[in-house]
Amino acid sequence: MTDSPPSAPLAIFIFGGTGDLSFRKLLPALFMAFAHERIRTDTRIIATGRQAMSADAFRQQVTARSDGGASQIFGEEVWQKFLSQIDYVELDASDAHGYSKLGQGGRSGEIRVFYLATAPALFTTICANLDHANLIDKDARVVLEKPLGHDLASARSINEQVARHFAENRIYRIDHYLGKETVQNLMVLRFGNAILEPLWRAPYVRSVQITVAETLGVGSRASFYDGTGALRDMVQNHLLQLLCIVAMEAPISLDPDDVRDEKLKVLRSLKRMTAEEVARYTVRGQYRAGLVDGEHAPAYLSEAGVPEDSATETFVALRCQINNPRWAGVPIFLRTGKRLQVRRSEVIVDFARSPFSPFDDADTESNRLVISLQPEESIKLQMLMKEPGSGMRRRPVTLDLDLHEAFSSRRAEAYERLLVDITRSRLTHFMRRDELEAAWTWADPIVKAWSQSGATPKPYAAGSWGPAAASALIASEGLAWHEEAVS
Ligand code: BG6
Repeated sequence: MTDSPPSAPLAIFIFGGTGDLSFRKLLPALFMAFAHERIRTDTRIIATGRQAMSADAFRQQVTARSDGGASQIFGEEVWQKFLSQIDYVELDASDAHGYSKLGQGGRSGEIRVFYLATAPALFTTICANLDHANLIDKDARVVLEKPLGHDLASARSINEQVARHFAENRIYRIDHYLGKETVQNLMVLRFGNAILEPLWRAPYVRSVQITVAETLGVGSRASFYDGTGALRDMVQNHLLQLLCIVAMEAPISLDPDDVRDEKLKVLRSLKRMTAEEVARYTVRGQYRAGLVDGEHAPAYLSEAGVPEDSATETFVALRCQINNPRWAGVPIFLRTGKRLQVRRSEVIVDFARSPFSPFDDADTESNRLVISLQPEESIKLQMLMKEPGSGMRRRPVTLDLDLHEAFSSRRAEAYERLLVDITRSRLTHFMRRDELEAAWTWADPIVKAWSQSGATPKPYAAGSWGPAAASALIASEGLAWHEEAVS
């Protein structure tokens, strides 16, 4: 990256500074941006939390929770310089009086970024308290972590109240999937390569699958996760955002509103499900004990902090439908779960078979584009080729775009890329208010139908691919989930 940081000094305030996200993602991302000078090296980072702790004690925790890799690569001096930019302020976010402490040490012309990595219930209080303490000026911006609310009504209320303190173009609703390299590359793949465009629609696309499979369980996040579940934690945001990029029309420019207008159209074209369709087209699951990567994994119900009768889903598979000319009639399958067999996020575009085959034996394989986001980033196209020898035996062969081989430059992690975007006022890869509300408009009837049905999630063994009903869901269309090892 050659773009240099803005000339104004920068201060980043992390609310929820002692939380998991702060230590695991935000501080490491800020370090990388700092070490590569993508943010000014005099950027102030102010973590806030309720815990009483000195700034030194906090900095020690940052070092203890880092894997040490950063200081090895960049040297102890760079690491120490980064640490010296970090401060810690003890603050009860709901107590307006404490906020004056955040104004101390500010520099003239400093841009303030307020990163709210707390429970969404605190977002509006924090914004009101920041305003009351005169900390919001015309350059200040706020970053809202997902999930923003737990349904349409709560999301609307948060959006309305945050809007009293920040203009829409100062609000960065983050979905870190939009910062992933391959997700951004998907836009180039689609809109930079003319050969795909005519085929990227019904009837040439037979189905689309999006899977985000995790091997991790709920870990120490039960207090958040049990009230949330996989639909709200993953589908309403990450999977729908991926779907938007797969399904949207070409934006007229990369201007934030042009891109977000097109994504919004996809979300608004998603068919809302009736209760009967929810019963037919969605599968909820919850993991039981099992083996993941050869290790025993406990059942969700035995995880610390999970109520023993919890009906929260840790897995969702569903079939959805986009009602527009490009996608009408194309089944779209979304699937995500914790404690699955492998960690893998991918988008599969399954093309229709030839309407006619001159070969005696019919082909069973179709052309497939497999776009992998993680663990490795790759784009592969499955084509049929002739097996060497006499006869016309055919076999699928993969055309492999190895992105790592083609590009040797460093690939920033999603959070680093998005944090840098925030400092440069780039909103393209953040969600606009209407997008988020459209996503809840689609998700709400599903949650409602599940709760009204009284049905409990289907059990699946940790280390499996989820409940058998998920396979039956896709099999009913004569299709199967893409589960083989990606070769
Ligand atoms: C988060 C969810 O948004 O995304 C987590 O809250 C999930 O439950 C995580 O584990 C997955 O992100 P990634 O980048 O590891 O796929």
